[in-house]
Amino acid sequence: MDSIRIRGGRPLHGDVEISGAKNAALPLMIAALLTSEPVTLSRVPKLADIATLTKLLSELGVDIAAPDNGDADHSLILRAGNITSTVAPYELVRRMRASVLVLGPLLARFGEATVSLPGGCAIGTRPVDIHLAGLERLGAQISLEDGYIHASAPDGLKGAEYHLAAPSVGATENLLMAAVLAEGETVLHNAAREPEITDLIHCLSAMGAVIDGTDSDCLRITGQTKLHGTGHRIMADRIEAGTYAIAAAVTGGAVELLGARAPHLETPIECWRQAGITVEETARGLRVSSAGRIQSVNLTTHPYPGFPTDLQAQTMVLMALAEGSALISETVFENRFMHVPELSRMGADIELHGGNALVRGVKALRGAPVMATDLRASSCLVLAGLAAEGETIISRVYHLDRGYERLVDKLGACGAKIERLAG
Ligand code: EPZ
Repeated sequence: MDSIRIRGGRPLHGDVEISGAKNAALPLMIAALLTSEPVTLSRVPKLADIATLTKLLSELGVDIAAPDNGDADHSLILRAGNITSTVAPYELVRRMRASVLVLGPLLARFGEATVSLPGGCAIGTRPVDIHLAGLERLGAQISLEDGYIHASAPDGLKGAEYHLAAPSVGATENLLMAAVLAEGETVLHNAAREPEITDLIHCLSAMGAVIDGTDSDCLRITGQTKLHGTGHRIMADRIEAGTYAIAAAVTGGAVELLGARAPHLETPIECWRQAGITVEETARGLRVSSAGRIQSVNLTTHPYPGFPTDLQAQTMVLMALAEGSALISETVFENRFMHVPELSRMGADIELHGGNALVRGVKALRGAPVMATDLRASSCLVLAGLAAEGETIISRVYHLDRGYERLVDKLGACGAKIERLAG
């Protein structure tokens, strides 16, 4: 297993090209199942999760081509005109839980789907009860056997009104993609409002879907008999952008995030500005810089537009180096502090109390050998290594490969002393 070596203490200066959003690309690729016509996606990030989903969709019979048209944007053309299977096997679903999103489209278009239960992961049990209850409300018959979800809708799905028990991102996406081909009208109350869902709605609408309430927590879908192909450029990855924003801040540097969109990061930007970081909107994206000492700021994670749980670990590094103490409360996942023991080994002063972390700022972190446990925890350790005095070796960096395209190159181009060691 590869690792990453960082010699910290060097301010970052330069530009970072923000890639297409992983959490938009995954549902958008799956949306191609809703039509027999080609769906072309551009600015597809080259990530392990995208490769895993490409394998899964190919096994279902989707033809996926990557035209090498030489442009900066990596594109995929997906054709689901000849689906040969409606089974998503455990081997692939366990590696990439977003595979469960194939349920809605397969049910909607083919009336059946057999999808492995995704199981839990490092950050929590992550059940899919809201997905399944919503699909049943749309008329699906669902049974759980041998660790698989067996779903069928022999007479097609029927539109209905459904109140999500929690504003689940995945459940909203699954139900959206089911409802667009259901008969009649569906209303989803308490829907999630993440920008990645808006991006999916834009693509579905371009495919002929009729969806009202974009950006709101109440989505009204008028089912269609079929959808057609389209082309769609994937939104920039707001979590990647936020990660590099903090890299600039914790190293006392100045970085321009090309393609980043301030409206997608309003709550985190407000938090970082309160901490004393300079964040400016530019014609190309966002410019983030930090000169003086960081001030402690309390934060609580919430569904969008609240502070994103996917930036909690990264912002904890900022607070670990701040003046004062910060209370960080994680309300979305039940176990998303796996990075804390590793940060403590680098000299951070953090006390855990259930879903709360009391972070007392220290003047400096010290490099150390640490281990990544999940995608965002691993990016947090990279940030800590960039800020720390001395050398940090991060093992199990396959976690990083799931969500950060060319991370070593992007940081190296801004002056970081960072290299990947084959393991
Ligand atoms: C999406 O996961 C993202 N993944 C996650 O990003 C992100 O952290 C999360 O949304 C929250 O923003 C993708 O988009 C591929 P949820 P998802 O359903 O859809 C509970 C990353 O690092 N819940 O909104 O799985 C669940 O247990 C990843 O890029 C139920 O109880 O998140 C969790 O506590 C990590 N029942 C909470 O809701 C359900 O049926 C939020 O989950 C579904 C969810």
